Amino acid sequence: MCGEVDVQGSKNAALPILAASVLCSEECVIGNCPDLADTRAALEIIGQLGGKTEFAEHTAVIDAGNIHKHEISNELMSSMRSSVLFLGPLVSRMGRATISYPGGCAIGLRPIDLHLKAFRELGVEIEETGGCIYCKCDKFVSGTVNLLFPSVGATENIMLLSAVSEGETVITNAAREPEIVDLQNFLNAMGAKISGAGSEIIRIIGVEKLQKVEYNIISDRIFATTCACAVACCGGDVVLKNANAEHLRLVLSMLKDSGCKISTGKGRVRIQCSERLKGLGKIITSPYPGFPTDAQALFMASFATAEGTTVFVENIFESRYKHVSELMKMGADIIVDGRLAAVTGCNYIQGAKITAGDLRGGAALVIAGLSAIGDTEISGVEHIDRGYESVENVFSALGAMIKRK
Ligand code: EPZ
Repeated sequence: MCGEVDVQGSKNAALPILAASVLCSEECVIGNCPDLADTRAALEIIGQLGGKTEFAEHTAVIDAGNIHKHEISNELMSSMRSSVLFLGPLVSRMGRATISYPGGCAIGLRPIDLHLKAFRELGVEIEETGGCIYCKCDKFVSGTVNLLFPSVGATENIMLLSAVSEGETVITNAAREPEIVDLQNFLNAMGAKISGAGSEIIRIIGVEKLQKVEYNIISDRIFATTCACAVACCGGDVVLKNANAEHLRLVLSMLKDSGCKISTGKGRVRIQCSERLKGLGKIITSPYPGFPTDAQALFMASFATAEGTTVFVENIFESRYKHVSELMKMGADIIVDGRLAAVTGCNYIQGAKITAGDLRGGAALVIAGLSAIGDTEISGVEHIDRGYESVENVFSALGAMIKRK
């Protein structure tokens, strides 16, 4: 694989930022927004609530001035996990909200109890009946929310509920992902007063109103990791443009430990690999800045043909190994026991007919297919399209033989 890749805007930064635009009754212009099924769904939700949206050339223009509804349809709620991120802005803006439980990748139960517990502590009355969640907030009660787990979505939802409010709200044990920092920067660009994102304590001083903004979203660290993993197992020399090496620190150091040559510059990351990867012993997923759970499947596909063994421990989601059975159809040697998956590298894997079961697992199958001997046919590509803009174009531009049937 050789050449350059423009890293797309971050899906997981775009989604909370699009939800945040509901808080502002003036126009928001959001650049570097990836054109994905999920971002389109977020724009559809804003339209359903009464907002006006345009989307072209990776720029979303949102005028939420006329938002007058507080209910989101089951269909849109179940289309993705981040539909739940509209709860905070809706309750803040309309004083109430009616939603159903969110959808998203089937990688575990993915409850929203931490979101709802925090909202109740902040004065939101919540009733859960018949699969619907009815929220009402006559008076916001600022205070400190101690998260049991550094949930990305719960952290974002609390920020979105508290940004336009009265008093100071503090989140302890907050998630520290770069996407949280991007949300803070977007909200502050609109006049919010939020600090601490990226650390485990976030302070939100409520403000009365937010102003219009033009903002560009950060690049997608998991998209960048996907490309890096493909180069690592196929071999080659690829430059990732607009990549943020800081957000990729651990992932890049692990690829370096396995034998890749990594060089970074302003907004650029270069990955070179000409040798067979060396197994990494163990990979344990944990909240940022630990090893990202979204990279677990990507690394597993790359290390299926590494020298030696790599043991994965998936600590974030309870069933995020759907890709294992598919990799084994290609000849990968993997044993799964609960949260643990032991991968013994084999000399090669063979192409096969396989099925994507979720977004990052599907991307892992693309990586495996690129490195396999013979043809691989992947069904379920709609999962992959939720997070990658035409994955086939990304890799064919690097010399891979990949096409959409
Ligand atoms: C975000 O999901 C990302 N999605 C996920 O990326 C990512 O894997 C995850 O964070 C962890 O980094 C988006 O940003 C849209 P969590 P989120 O709340 O917010 C449990 C991808 O491939 N939990 O940090 O849903 C939960 O079940 C996607 O791009 C509760 O128990 O993640 C999970 O086990 C996949 N109760 C763990 O916490 C709650 O109320 C982490 O979830 C909330 C979460």
